[in-house]
Amino acid sequence: MSDGHWVDRLDEAVSALAPRLPAVPSLGLVLGSGLGHFAHSLGERHVIPYQEVPHLPLPRVSGHDAALSWGRVGRWPVLCLQGRVHAYEGYDAAEVAFGVRLLARLGVSTVIVTNAAGGIDPALAPGSFLLITDHLNLTGLNPLCGPNLDALGPRFPDMSRAYDPALAQAARRAAARLGRPLAEGVYAGLLGPSYETPAEIAMLRALGAHAVGMSTVLEVIALRHAGVRVGAMSCITNHAAGVGEAPLSHAEVEATAQRTQADFVQLVSAWVEESAGGEVRA
Ligand code: HPA
Repeated sequence: MSDGHWVDRLDEAVSALAPRLPAVPSLGLVLGSGLGHFAHSLGERHVIPYQEVPHLPLPRVSGHDAALSWGRVGRWPVLCLQGRVHAYEGYDAAEVAFGVRLLARLGVSTVIVTNAAGGIDPALAPGSFLLITDHLNLTGLNPLCGPNLDALGPRFPDMSRAYDPALAQAARRAAARLGRPLAEGVYAGLLGPSYETPAEIAMLRALGAHAVGMSTVLEVIALRHAGVRVGAMSCITNHAAGVGEAPLSHAEVEATAQRTQADFVQLVSAWVEESAGGEVRA
């Protein structure tokens, strides 16, 4: 797709979607592999299949749903992207960012991004959660390449506080309220789709990464470009390559995400409440 048409495409998608939403929430969520269950926990849920939104790319991986869910966490309205697309599926970076840009264009001002990730830090057990405090974009891609889309944001957006400190505080409060530990650290985003080698994981550890995955970073760049506040959480689904003995598999990733989804729903719901539906400010 040529760059100049992205804003038109977003506006067409907004025109199709907005009339179908009971209200535009402040808060959006991106639900990663096996984490879509969160959407089922929403009150007053409205589901809009991605196929019914013009230009929204469709996931091509099993474990990823493909629907927008509007609903409430307590009294707070939220809009979830239940299923995302990845660059390794053959989508370009701007296509990967389309869903989150759609949230921003609709008027969502805060987005919580979730993912399944491998734990580089051996202390991160499969089934634990990690609050992402920063990232390494090692995909070799950037959704902002090409002519800047001035209608969306600036040419050179600041990334020095990409993960919002007040939202991170809200996540810590949520975990404390539930009495559950919450690790924190740096997420390394790689292109995939092959998992990493043990040497690559050793390199990522030396670079300061605590968890590794194949999503999130391109979305976060596009969200920061659009001035949207970002929080992010990983479900650690496996020890990264070479950290444990077992070979890595997508089945293991999905099984761990499934096993932990009740805990995940509880933690993210508490996070939404502690962030006052995304309105929390430092
Ligand atoms: N590596 C990359 N992506 C992942 C992993 C991993 O170990 N686990 C879940 N997504």
